[in-house]
Amino acid sequence: PKTPGTVFFLFGATGDLARRKLFPALYSLYREGKLSEDFAVIGVARRPRTQDEFRDDIYQSIQEFCRYKAQEGEQWTAFADHFEYKSLDINNVEGYHELREQTESLEERYGIPGNRLFYLALAPELFGSVSLNLQKGGMLDSKGWHRLVIEKPFGYNLESAQKLNEELNQVFKEEEIFRIDHYLGKEMVQNIEVLRFGNALFEPLWNNKHIANVQITLSETVGVEERGGYYDHAGALRDMGQNHMLQMLTMIAMEPPSRLLPEDIRDEKVKVLRSLRPYATSNEVKNNVVRAQYTQGQAGGKTLPGYREEDKVDPASNTETFFSAKVMVDNFRWAGVPFYIRTGKRLPVKTTEVVVEFQNMPTNVYLGQRHTLEPNLLVIRVNPMEGIYIKINAKKPGTESQIEPLAMEFCQSCLIGINSPEAYERLIHDAAEGDSTYFTRWDEVATAWAFIDKIARAWSENPGDINHYPAGTWGPKEASDLLEQDGFHWWPVN
Ligand code: BG6
Repeated sequence: PKTPGTVFFLFGATGDLARRKLFPALYSLYREGKLSEDFAVIGVARRPRTQDEFRDDIYQSIQEFCRYKAQEGEQWTAFADHFEYKSLDINNVEGYHELREQTESLEERYGIPGNRLFYLALAPELFGSVSLNLQKGGMLDSKGWHRLVIEKPFGYNLESAQKLNEELNQVFKEEEIFRIDHYLGKEMVQNIEVLRFGNALFEPLWNNKHIANVQITLSETVGVEERGGYYDHAGALRDMGQNHMLQMLTMIAMEPPSRLLPEDIRDEKVKVLRSLRPYATSNEVKNNVVRAQYTQGQAGGKTLPGYREEDKVDPASNTETFFSAKVMVDNFRWAGVPFYIRTGKRLPVKTTEVVVEFQNMPTNVYLGQRHTLEPNLLVIRVNPMEGIYIKINAKKPGTESQIEPLAMEFCQSCLIGINSPEAYERLIHDAAEGDSTYFTRWDEVATAWAFIDKIARAWSENPGDINHYPAGTWGPKEASDLLEQDGFHWWPVN
């Protein structure tokens, strides 16, 4: 469906996120007819920019990052006309009054009924004061709805997240706050729900009687790039673990909601987070969570620098660029089933993948065979390949009864004509529609932080107690030991 008439405010309009993701997402929505004609976008940032310069920025961003290319001409002009720029000192209320006037005239021009969506692509320290100034400047006085869309990181730990949430709640109600976790906008992450609840093949087996373990990998080949300043303070646990990783885990582990309504789904997800077995002592953290940092290494014939040599990183830094953990979900369905998770920078491949390893069949009938029976696997490929893959056992053709694992594969991203929407397209569209399903609710954020804080606290007692791995490898041996001590191993990613 088309979005309702809306003014989108992009705070941080000259920044990286706007350029790489937000302008391209708006353009794709427009090209696909998912954005109603009565929309307007006001780009807000500090630096002065003329309308022409701003529209030129947008054009460049689309040419570089969008799955549709813009062509100079009528269609482009029609799109670009919806964009205006406002240079604003976000701490100065005066500017917000001007912004209100600019907004009202756009609303009049397009017949927009006062619906305003504020996307803050800004440092989180600014969320509170911008919200307050929006209110003081009269930006929330219009008749329609008002929504706040914010990016992670949502706090640094539970305490700071709570503080931030309280600040936001002075101005916005929970149902007006859309916290982005862009992994929830990914096509295949959303598909987990359908795979599970739409298939008699899977859901009846989706429990501790049939599943031996679950492995979730979010690996990246990039290093910290230009984000050393932020990353060195955050680390992999906060950057990927608290949000994307735990969110994916909830999608795999949640109970079927009674309806596919946002609050029902989010209720089920938060129940998973509440069921995570907390690591009670530093020793438990040590035995179940591995952290590591990359050192210099080789990939593709090139030498990659170590993390400590990266720009804006403390040369004595002990920040983790990799972590892996064994997580237990203490509920009826999952009792006894380990979830192994891992994420890292400078790993050999870029992939997001979930492997569900089923319990093996009784092997008595095959005793005495040369080949052991391998367990069935269901592999959900999220990114960059999208699809699913099932590994089953079959007889090797031409042999009497030799068993051979074979793969049944569905590759969504290989299909011609399928051009999956980018996560941000889906999320911006949903926020304008008021559908909060794939945004994280406050209790999810808080519960996730409570779990993560225990790990971070234990680590901070011994900052130097960190493993290392050469850039371009799969992390330290300790990450494999986590599984091996339980009789499992990481399945190679594809
Ligand atoms: C972001 C992290 O949330 O996700 C980055 O801050 C990371 O460090 C990125 O690179 C990965 O996202 P994607 O969509 O490329 O897997």
